[in-house]
Amino acid sequence: MNRIDTDSRPPFSSLNGRRPEDLFSDLPTPCYIIDEKQLRKNGEILSSVMKKAGCKTLLAQKAFSNYDFYPLLSEYLTGTEASGLYEARLGAEKMPGKEVHVFCAAYRDDEFRDLLEYADHIVFNSIGQIKKFGAAAKENGKSVGLRINPELSTQEGHEIYDPCASGSRLGVTREQWNSQITSETISMLDGLHFHTLCEQDSDALELTLSAVDAKFGDILSLPQISWLNMGGGHHITRPGYDIPKLEKCILNAKRKWNTEIYLEPGEACALNAGYLASRVIDIVQNGDISIAILDASAACHMPDVIEVPYTPPLYGAEEGRKGSRYCYRLAGPTCLAGDVVGDYGFARELQIGDVLLFGDMAIYSTCKTNTFNGIPLPNIWRMDKDNKLKRLTDFGYNDFKMRLGSV
Ligand SMILES: Cc1ncc(COP(=O)(O)O)c(C=O)c1O
Repeated sequence: MNRIDTDSRPPFSSLNGRRPEDLFSDLPTPCYIIDEKQLRKNGEILSSVMKKAGCKTLLAQKAFSNYDFYPLLSEYLTGTEASGLYEARLGAEKMPGKEVHVFCAAYRDDEFRDLLEYADHIVFNSIGQIKKFGAAAKENGKSVGLRINPELSTQEGHEIYDPCASGSRLGVTREQWNSQITSETISMLDGLHFHTLCEQDSDALELTLSAVDAKFGDILSLPQISWLNMGGGHHITRPGYDIPKLEKCILNAKRKWNTEIYLEPGEACALNAGYLASRVIDIVQNGDISIAILDASAACHMPDVIEVPYTPPLYGAEEGRKGSRYCYRLAGPTCLAGDVVGDYGFARELQIGDVLLFGDMAIYSTCKTNTFNGIPLPNIWRMDKDNKLKRLTDFGYNDFKMRLGSV
């Protein structure tokens, strides 16, 4: 690997000046490395908010579900949030004794019974679903919630991540509430839930809470409503996030509605707590573009790079093609023409065999991998506080084959 200057940007700050070649050059690539130190830093920030604002915080497992780290995170968090039966089960099994909340856009008959075994808080997405499943949830002692849609978009040009976009299926609007609610349904409700943010600061939460108050303040004031879940998308652990404003929002909401407050961030729990190490396996030239083909794939190992889309931070390199003498397009080994991670500028020429380290690869990465083209799954490693590495997985041919046919 080429020697490069130390990269101290937030996705790499937890390396404390240690260079990737010193830490990871013996690891078979591609592989993910989850950094315990950064997970702890995030946990400490979240638990300080919990203490100061008196709220509860859940890990949204859709973003990060590497359960080997649940014991560590459970030192800080109230429990887990799930998107359905399997995540609820994982949360119950791997954070025993902690709360398990679940929200799903629509529950299936055949999974709901099982869900009752694992979840303690069940959030419904429609009044029709409460009418169908609410009684069973109550009979089994569950706390029942309804997701509301305050219809306030606080992000632009990002409809895929905006539950308040027009025509959204996520959450009950006040109009739907007014036309469908019955006193029997209201009597089943213990809490309300909203999730409208994505990688946002607390000013967006403040605006959202005004909309929640305007549309659903009367419901939140009902004496039976004992909790309000403010969803995820709060980028609390990002340097520069306005934490005092978040705490103020929570304290105001608690006071106004006399409810318990839950947050369920995914990204903020594991922000900057993981890396994807990859090696250059070939370099090709097409016109003025130099293309380094990696053993990691955007399509298989960092699908958000294509879906969001975004260019992930790379240790010691600049994103984009501006100015740098050595510019490379980094691309994956699959047949997909668009399997491209991005263009980067380097301080020196790349060589076949160089190890490249992508940052912020703990979230929406290991939980979204696939084996398209028969590309192997990267193993997952744990890096402890002393930078000691331990392999957690042993993926191979069977992990590709088992999802495709008879066993
Ligand atoms: C209902 C719900 N809660 C929590 C989250 C976690 O969001 P984030 O990882 O952005 O904090 C999401 C993400 O889509 C969500 O849909």
